[in-house]
Amino acid sequence: MKDILTAPFLIEMCKTTANMYRLGWDERNGGNVSYLIPEEEVKEYLDVKKVIRRIPTGFKAEALAGKYFIVTGTGKYFKNVESDPETNLGVLRISEDGEAAELLWGYKDGGRFTSEFPAHMMSHIARLAKDPENRVVMHCHPTNLLAMNYVHELSEAKLTHTLWEMCTECIVVFPDGVGVLPWMLCGTNEIGEATAKKMEEFRVVVWALHGVYGAGKTMDETFGLIETVEKAAEIYMLTAHLPRINTIRDEDMVRLAEFFKVKYRKDFLNLGK
Ligand code: 13P
Ligand code: ZN
Repeated sequence: MKDILTAPFLIEMCKTTANMYRLGWDERNGGNVSYLIPEEEVKEYLDVKKVIRRIPTGFKAEALAGKYFIVTGTGKYFKNVESDPETNLGVLRISEDGEAAELLWGYKDGGRFTSEFPAHMMSHIARLAKDPENRVVMHCHPTNLLAMNYVHELSEAKLTHTLWEMCTECIVVFPDGVGVLPWMLCGTNEIGEATAKKMEEFRVVVWALHGVYGAGKTMDETFGLIETVEKAAEIYMLTAHLPRINTIRDEDMVRLAEFFKVKYRKDFLNLGK
């Protein structure tokens, strides 16, 4: 059996959470990440018959039965993941009935998966139904996107349109736009269900006045998605109080989307005006 501390999936989790912290997206214990790992990969590092603990999920996750995830722990600080992965991360398998997470490694101090486990697992179910290659769900509190929540309308069409206008490549990176949930109590099955519903349509979902969720096939793709949305929000916050002299026109966004052959939300543009 190989040393799990050398597992590429664990190293990716450490590096990604460290980067998220470095960028200011994850103050204190803010943010959480879940990463689906194929069984063959887990078996190289862990005896999958040795379950340390069963942690009730509190919802039905049988659509993910037998699937393995590495997940950040609740209350854990992203700044500490790299120096102590075994306390701050857990590798788990969803039980056959979907009612428990079978812990195989990690949460060494008796901890458990993130309080946003419902939103993560329900989002995995929703994204996997759309894209069988989806493996990552990421939540964080990016500074500029959060700031923008206080000063910009939160309709999906208007928020997406403004973000697309802020950097030329935005419409190519998130052509499906940005979904928005109103402020809701976090850590609940209800916000999990609402997030998953939005994930049927969007790979980026803003939780109003809280943060953002992103989903993707790889850690890089998901990180890059949130990074691009946050960059656009930063440009907005740097310019919103200044007179707008220039802008990317909707016709140019159409040219971009067509040139890069992405399926984009036409209804979020103001064409023919
Ligand atoms: P956890 O520490 O439980 O992961 O919660 C952090 C967070 O961002 C809640 O939305
Ligand atoms: Zn949060």
